[in-house]
Amino acid sequence: MADSQRHPFLHGLSKHRGAPPTVVVIFGASGDLTARKLIPAVYNLGADSLLPTDFHLVGYGRKEIPDEEFRKLAADAIKEFSRREPDEKVWDRIASNTTYVAGGYDDPAAYQRLARHIDEIEKRVGRDVQALFYISTPPSVFAPILRNLGAAGLAGKHLGAPHHAKVIIEKPFGRDLESALALNGTIRSVFEEHQVYRIDHYLGKETVQDLLVQRFANAIFEPLWNRNYIDSVQITVAEEVGVGTRGGYYEQSGCLRDMIQNHTMQLLALTAMEPPVSLDAEAIRDEKVKLLKAIQPLNLGGNGDVARAQYSEGMIGGKAVPGYLSEEGIAPGSKTETFAALRLSINNWRWQGVPFYLRSGKRMARRVSEIAINFKRPPGTLFAEGEKFNLANNTLAFQIQPDEGLGMILNAKVPGLETRTQPVKMNFRYATTFGSNTPEAYERLVLDAMIGDGTLFIRGDEAETSWKLCTPILQAWVEAGREGMDSYPAGSWGPASSEALLTKHNHFWRQP
Ligand SMILES: NC(=O)c1ccc[n+]([C@@H]2O[C@H](COP(=O)([O-])OP(=O)(O)OC[C@H]3O[C@@H](n4cnc5c(N)ncnc54)[C@H](OP(=O)(O)O)[C@@H]3O)[C@@H](O)[C@H]2O)c1
Repeated sequence: MADSQRHPFLHGLSKHRGAPPTVVVIFGASGDLTARKLIPAVYNLGADSLLPTDFHLVGYGRKEIPDEEFRKLAADAIKEFSRREPDEKVWDRIASNTTYVAGGYDDPAAYQRLARHIDEIEKRVGRDVQALFYISTPPSVFAPILRNLGAAGLAGKHLGAPHHAKVIIEKPFGRDLESALALNGTIRSVFEEHQVYRIDHYLGKETVQDLLVQRFANAIFEPLWNRNYIDSVQITVAEEVGVGTRGGYYEQSGCLRDMIQNHTMQLLALTAMEPPVSLDAEAIRDEKVKLLKAIQPLNLGGNGDVARAQYSEGMIGGKAVPGYLSEEGIAPGSKTETFAALRLSINNWRWQGVPFYLRSGKRMARRVSEIAINFKRPPGTLFAEGEKFNLANNTLAFQIQPDEGLGMILNAKVPGLETRTQPVKMNFRYATTFGSNTPEAYERLVLDAMIGDGTLFIRGDEAETSWKLCTPILQAWVEAGREGMDSYPAGSWGPASSEALLTKHNHFWRQP
């Protein structure tokens, strides 16, 4: 039974959006992301009848993989990672149009082979087919792939009008402002901006999209969404996992690059931007860029607006875990932060004087991403805080993951013959109201890219603006070496320096 038939609230949620005939080419098709997210996303779009009738999937990579073996790898990935039990009929339909092209990422001849392969598909389909190139490789080969797509005429001209080719680029989008500018330069030399889809998979999450609905479809919030009523905003993106076997990769990245510059900044932009004039991709992205540009440069000195730390040994889920410096692949005396916190000021009419606190880290007390809006207190003339009146600031908390939903903290009277107050929680949970079988972020994003809707992707100037803010922080940290690097026990909510960032302004991190 379809989800919409099973649950009344799902009526009307089925999507009526169609993509044109498409060939999706995945670069790095033998990789981890392809298996865990991309192939299951394609499968689930197929199961929901959201793939175009003429849909083809082409894997590309250096390994020689026969078509049959690639189909088997894909089927195994679906069995292991799909949110649904695989249905053979659905997979057989996709598999019959699934092929693999082997080639180097910087080998022009291989791109000519790929171009011929796409030509043959187009001939078989018998009408124009758009090519969606998904670059899911390590970033070191993003630029060679882009340049070779251009040189082989695959960026549009070869297939007709430019809108017939599109490219999805995985994160990380650069490692600082300079590299992001260089990558944008390469992209723009081959593709036009409207053909480019820079992934931040956070934007594909239901709750992130719900942020816009909550803000702009509910009359009760919008009038309060400003410095007159909001005291401060906290955004937390916490992971429970450590670096695991990816220590080598993480050493080159760190928390600011891995989480803050992209996901956390995107959450901030959506929370704080002005109402867009429409739901059009450009209108929303214009507002996000304006907001990011209004963020003031940070005080990077000691006791300033930033904190960074590495996890030390501690307990996660009742088990002892090692500290970052003892993890596999980590350099002795590593200067890579596993936690970062920032205090940001937005200098515009709406937000002047309202601090925005951002934090993210690995090996924190629990995996949770949330945006908490803390409102100012009403005048305390009637209920003065004391023994009888336990009061809290009203807080609206968007829980992005897990247990997606929205919670509100209100003050209520405790039942009884005298007037006592206590903070209470009002909760809305997605899974309870809508059922738990919601699409994964990558399903939405692959579908949107096929359709040509860039709303949930990062525009080039957004990435650059965010890097403009984060790059000076990275530079200051390189100059400081390990000086100022704090630590926090694995399984905690972060270091003392992160608490201090707030307490000096009379604020406290909430425990999500
Ligand atoms: N895995 C995740 O959960 C995740 C999450 C978010 C974003 N991402 C991003 O998605 C992209 C792909 O991630 P992934 O985890 O799938 O990567 P991966 O497994 O390390 O690599 C993907 C494929 O790229 C090729 N490759 C690997 N190392 C290479 C190198 N040094 N030079 C050229 N080709 C190389 C390999 O295919 P061949 O040898 O066949 O060419 C490999 O199967 C990355 O940009 C990553 O940052 C990944």
